[in-house]
Amino acid sequence: MSIGIHDLAVSTAHHVVDLAELAEATGVDPAKYQIGLGQDRMSFPAPDEDIVTMGAAAALPLLERHGTDGIRTVLFATESGVDQSKSAGLFVHELLGLPRTMRVAEFKQACYGATAALQSALGIVARNPRERVLVIASDVARYELDTPGEPTQGAGAVAMLVSADPALLAIEPVSGVAARDVDDFWRPNDSTTAVVDGRLSLTAYLGALTTAWDDFAAGGGVGAGQIDRFCFHQPFTKMARKALKGLAQHTGVELGDELQEATFAYNRELGNTYTASLYAGLAALLDQDDTLAGTRIGLFSYGSGAVGEFFTGIVQPGYQEQRRCEAVTAELAGRVPLSLSEYRELHATEHASGTDLETPRVTQGPFRFAGIRRQARQYEATQ
Ligand code: CAA
Repeated sequence: MSIGIHDLAVSTAHHVVDLAELAEATGVDPAKYQIGLGQDRMSFPAPDEDIVTMGAAAALPLLERHGTDGIRTVLFATESGVDQSKSAGLFVHELLGLPRTMRVAEFKQACYGATAALQSALGIVARNPRERVLVIASDVARYELDTPGEPTQGAGAVAMLVSADPALLAIEPVSGVAARDVDDFWRPNDSTTAVVDGRLSLTAYLGALTTAWDDFAAGGGVGAGQIDRFCFHQPFTKMARKALKGLAQHTGVELGDELQEATFAYNRELGNTYTASLYAGLAALLDQDDTLAGTRIGLFSYGSGAVGEFFTGIVQPGYQEQRRCEAVTAELAGRVPLSLSEYRELHATEHASGTDLETPRVTQGPFRFAGIRRQARQYEATQ
């Protein structure tokens, strides 16, 4: 029996910031962002959007296509959680009208959280193949203004339905894992933005990749030459180029960027989506490459702090029938641009808190963050 990703969908925020405009306004050569980092734009949430509204919007089309039969678990991965105790998945559970008989939990380990959730989902389905698991990865990546991290912000969500006999990607059993306590990127409880040591984060990412790869190889994983496409976590797409180059040097196998180019399309537009980034890369690859049936994809998930996992999956015949390319392209194109001053103002006021709050109606998405009542966050459908 194979188990894996049966379907996946991407969603993002209402607004977009053009990185060429940001560069020009701050005296930076736009090529630094577009070529040096490999990013064109970054999504930015409206005041009535957050990880819950984006996550629910990503999950909705999965339920519309496949129904809720067999779904008994919702695993929500994020590193920009909206509550220290309650899982964001519970808000999504209510917004989507999922059955009461459900286990719901939130996963956290920086950008790696969605892979931890996916691996857990595979285990749940292995135990009972009649069950299906809804995995949601949703994040708002936020750094301080006027820092090197600023052009690597972003926002977005990916929802995945994990099942037996998947229609998209059958995950193979061998995984290579890596863990090491390192202060490359983190977000203290009293901070709304991440603290990052940019240089260290690059070497920690590449170190986790080689450690995870060696563990993958030691555990019986296939050689690098037997992997047809690569899909890496993309804090900015240039990072994935560095990763593939690093893996080629480490293994001595020639691995050109044509093996991963198609994974960049959505992330160049979304910016960093932390937990969702790897899977937005996978969505872009499956949406754009027509030659994948039966091929093996190697995926590398990285979460600062730091954890890495390298694993593989086989693309299933007929995967093209599950595509949502037009919907993703339309959502990206429909984002409302923010001027630099609007962006800066929203950046400063974005993190809603307090006892009571009513948010303005802005989002065109299916769900909105309505505000805070007696310290509890309130969500509603927009139609
Ligand atoms: N034209 C073309 N390229 C240019 C250029 C120009 N005019 N000017 C500079 N560049 C290139 C540089 O050569 C460099 O490319 P290489 O790395 O290939 O040499 C690239 O643009 C970036 O330039 P800098 O290294 O000078 O950029 P920086 O120091 O200002 O910031 C950064 C880069 C450290 C990654 C910063 O954006 C940052 O801190 N980002 C947040 C942390 C991050 O994303 N880390 C990634 C690993 S951690 C992770 O993956 C978890 C996660 O999601 C956060």
